[in-house]
Amino acid sequence: MSPRRIPVHADAVGRREVPLRITVDDELLDGIAGQTIAGVLLAAGRLAWRRGPSGAPRGVFCGIGVCFDCLVTVGDERDVRACRRRARDGDVITTQRRAAEGANFPATDGG
Ligand code: FES
Repeated sequence: MSPRRIPVHADAVGRREVPLRITVDDELLDGIAGQTIAGVLLAAGRLAWRRGPSGAPRGVFCGIGVCFDCLVTVGDERDVRACRRRARDGDVITTQRRAAEGANFPATDGG
């Protein structure tokens, strides 16, 4: 995949960028309609937004909805794959933490 980006004024098809703004952990991030939540996060320079069981940082790994490394909470909906969900203007997103870190991550290991 090429990282090349066509500037709006040079787009022969005539597409134009529609700005959007989301909130991630109380931080306002700007994006463009059509970007995924992960795309907005990456464009803002956030490469990781949660931690795995070992404490290792997690963000986008596969980018196609397979690995579940990119989970976030969108509004009240937990475990949303940020690489699969398009950002919508006004989305309120919180990053997820494990129970051991003192947040509301549900126990799944029999505890
Ligand atoms: S990065 Fe793998 S599911 Fe989102």
